[in-house]
Amino acid sequence: QDEIGQLDKVFHAMVEQLSEAAAQKQDFISMMSHDLRSPLSSLQVTLAVLLRGQYGALNDTGIVRAKSAERSVTRLINMISELLEFEKLSSGVFDLQLEVVPISQLAELAGDAVYDLAEESNVKLELPANILKVVADKKRIVQVLVNLFANAIRYCAPGGKVSLEAEKQDDLVIVKVKDNGPGIPADSREKIFERFQQVQTPGKESRQGSGLGLAICKAIVEGHRGRIGVQDNQGRGSVFWFTLSSGEGSND
Ligand SMILES: Nc1ncnc2c1ncn2[C@@H]1O[C@H](COP(=O)(O)OP(=O)(O)OP(=O)(O)O)[C@@H](O)[C@H]1O
Ligand SMILES: [Mg+2]
Repeated sequence: QDEIGQLDKVFHAMVEQLSEAAAQKQDFISMMSHDLRSPLSSLQVTLAVLLRGQYGALNDTGIVRAKSAERSVTRLINMISELLEFEKLSSGVFDLQLEVVPISQLAELAGDAVYDLAEESNVKLELPANILKVVADKKRIVQVLVNLFANAIRYCAPGGKVSLEAEKQDDLVIVKVKDNGPGIPADSREKIFERFQQVQTPGKESRQGSGLGLAICKAIVEGHRGRIGVQDNQGRGSVFWFTLSSGEGSND
């Protein structure tokens, strides 16, 4: 394992400790944002410059190693951002910029963000040309969709399929992200929305992420006064769903 792989492991251990030591959380988090994020960001820039051949051409092994290092660094930075984001959301200090937007627009933005991941994982992403509109903070709901898409892609078998659907029910819109992956065992379907809760996915390297994605989704959806959950996809895979207001209710 290279050094960054080690750093990755150490970080995972830290995240685990964090989940137990809630009291030290605040200190740890501010330390993390300052002391970990900035050196990682410069490391990321250096690796990108190296890969561009600006310091001379790398040989094939060099390219492979530098790319792998770059992926690890990016993952670490994302994890740190997620953790900070979750802290912000769970302390309730975020306000929503609500507007009426078509689902298709949110789906497109989120789809763009996971395009490379889907390509790389050989997973097909199907987005609807759905004209339903929702009342949403665009940036936040795109973030929810990105998390759900990324999970579906990551936990889906290669060659899998991920799709988004939306339907109207009274003055709500139900948004569904469906995949044909391994699904979630019935007894874990509530637990996974809590932070740091992960389930063993057969054939997948577990602990790739930090276990915060769905907790962030829940905080955002509930901030919109919506609900979020997961159900079985007809015996094969999962359907993650959440509700948003269609803006047509009488009491808004
Ligand atoms: N579409 C899915 N199919 C199968 N399992 C899933 C799916 N989405 C989530 N899970 C399970 O739920 C767990 C929690 O998901 P969550 O997004 O909160 O964390 P994560 O993906 O492990 O890490 P992070 O999102 O913070 O990088 C995952 O570790 C995985 O075990
Ligand atoms: Mg996730």
